[in-house]
Amino acid sequence: MIIRDEDAMRAFGAQLAQKLSVGQLVTLSGPLGAGKTVLAKAIIAEFGFAGDVSSPTFAIIHEYDEPGMRLPVVHADLYRLDDPQELEELGLFDANDRVTLVEWPEQGGAALQSADIAIAIEPLPDGTRSITVEDKRKQI
Ligand SMILES: Nc1ncnc2c1ncn2[C@@H]1O[C@H](COP(=O)(O)OP(=O)(O)O)[C@@H](O)[C@H]1O
Ligand SMILES: [Mg+2]
Repeated sequence: MIIRDEDAMRAFGAQLAQKLSVGQLVTLSGPLGAGKTVLAKAIIAEFGFAGDVSSPTFAIIHEYDEPGMRLPVVHADLYRLDDPQELEELGLFDANDRVTLVEWPEQGGAALQSADIAIAIEPLPDGTRSITVEDKRKQI
């Protein structure tokens, strides 16, 4: 699927958010600047978070849980993660009562291979993005 611009990416995120339910893990792959954070922000906004969504690069993990949200959402960016074992300490897998969005899942080891939905974003030379969605929930 071709995503023409940032607005189209936000619309895609809003659509995707409506199909997500509790306990699901969504991984967002693609190079720096591909649009992973733009997509994550759109998903978090659709879940009802009204505030600013910062890039969690330095915190690695940020949880959005406010009254009025359909479900809590955890947003993680593993770009600067040194060791996948740290994810246990950081509590990424602690709760099953939320949706989990992970940028740079390749940095997170085996546990991140088993996403419910794996999204790959590929920037194309004309500035658009090609998106591949692997929905593994359908195999259940
Ligand atoms: N089709 C598109 N989808 C998403 N972002 C786009 C698109 N076209 C241009 N952009 C720009 O690309 C950048 C993507 O940044 P970001 O989401 O932080 O990337 P990542 O998290 O993958 O490193 C933003 O500056 C955004 O405005
Ligand atoms: Mg990012």
